[in-house]
Amino acid sequence: MSEHEWELEQHTQQEETTPAESVFICTANRDFAAYAQEELRRLFGSVKSRVLSDREVLLVQLNAAAEEAVQKITESRPIFLRHIQPVQFEQTGDNAGILLGEASSFILGTGLLYTGVRAALQVRKSEGAGGDSAPQLKEWLEELLRASEAEFVSADADWIVSVYLTADAVYAGISRPEDNLSDWSGGAVRFRREEGQLSRAKFKLLEAEREFGLYLSAYRSAVDIGAAPGGWTSLLLERGLKVTAVDPAKLHPSLLKQPNLTYIRKNAGEVKFRDNEFDLLVCDMSWSPKLMVQLVTGLLHALAPGGTAIVTIKLMHKKPMALIKEVISSFEDSRLQVQRAKQLFHNREEITLYMIKY
Ligand SMILES: C[S@@+](CC[C@H](N)C(=O)[O-])C[C@H]1O[C@@H](n2cnc3c(N)ncnc32)[C@H](O)[C@@H]1O
Repeated sequence: MSEHEWELEQHTQQEETTPAESVFICTANRDFAAYAQEELRRLFGSVKSRVLSDREVLLVQLNAAAEEAVQKITESRPIFLRHIQPVQFEQTGDNAGILLGEASSFILGTGLLYTGVRAALQVRKSEGAGGDSAPQLKEWLEELLRASEAEFVSADADWIVSVYLTADAVYAGISRPEDNLSDWSGGAVRFRREEGQLSRAKFKLLEAEREFGLYLSAYRSAVDIGAAPGGWTSLLLERGLKVTAVDPAKLHPSLLKQPNLTYIRKNAGEVKFRDNEFDLLVCDMSWSPKLMVQLVTGLLHALAPGGTAIVTIKLMHKKPMALIKEVISSFEDSRLQVQRAKQLFHNREEITLYMIKY
């Protein structure tokens, strides 16, 4: 082939190839969608997006094929992007019944649901969408998909069917659970509130345990910095650990008679520990990130090498990306290796770090 012919062929190939694109619904914690979008922009260059639900749910078009986009996103382990669901079918209209019917015809048409397949149905709607509630819509969808003879489950599914309804459109897709960043609908990890639960904060540590694949019962001895009223301490005690709780504020009285608890009612800056006394350090202190880093690093000698630290960073309305980078770099200078940084569903104006001391 002459040089000219080769150039011509290249030229025609370029003209024929349409750039790959894919569409996803992306969810972050309320008020953090802009940071999730920034994470996507850093991965894909430019990102086209539209708000579906104020400050938390975006419809996003990426300049990559779906498979490649999912791989890039999951490998990047985003901090703020909590959940993605593919949009393989989109239809406008204002009748939820008709839209749901059309979405279900698309899902049945994929041929992925049949006898023996376990499918989780996840139906969400935007703030503005009226009519039936999301659970009612889910029941309805289940009826429409019954013909497939798939088994409908809420956990351990082979496929997740995602449907999102707005006031004037439906978006649907089907994906493997591991491709959605979270197998919970919208990444909203729900725990049942127990009777006598000491604080909602307990959910954060429960979620961290799950999200980071920790096995809390495997630790022996923990220090909980900023422990009051005692949600995290109570979970660690339930998991069978010895716990040293540090807080100038009062721990809930129900904890005080626990034999495995040592309660130091002091500011964390005033306590003294022996070297390598703990194999787990947790800190959910309500203080500025800078001071929290100072206090935690000051106590790090008490965490044995190989030990784990779970720490929340309060974002305090600062620029989160820069603040997180600064905190991570300070910890890494202090022999803590960051395994994950994540805004958990139960984190509000904060994120959680999972680190290991080396
Ligand atoms: C969000 S609460 C912790 C909730 C706790 N994780 C739970 O599950 O119940 C924050 C705590 O940090 C404590 N705190 C703030 N500054 C502190 C310091 N310098 N030393 C120790 N505790 C501190 C506060 O007294 C408060 O009880």
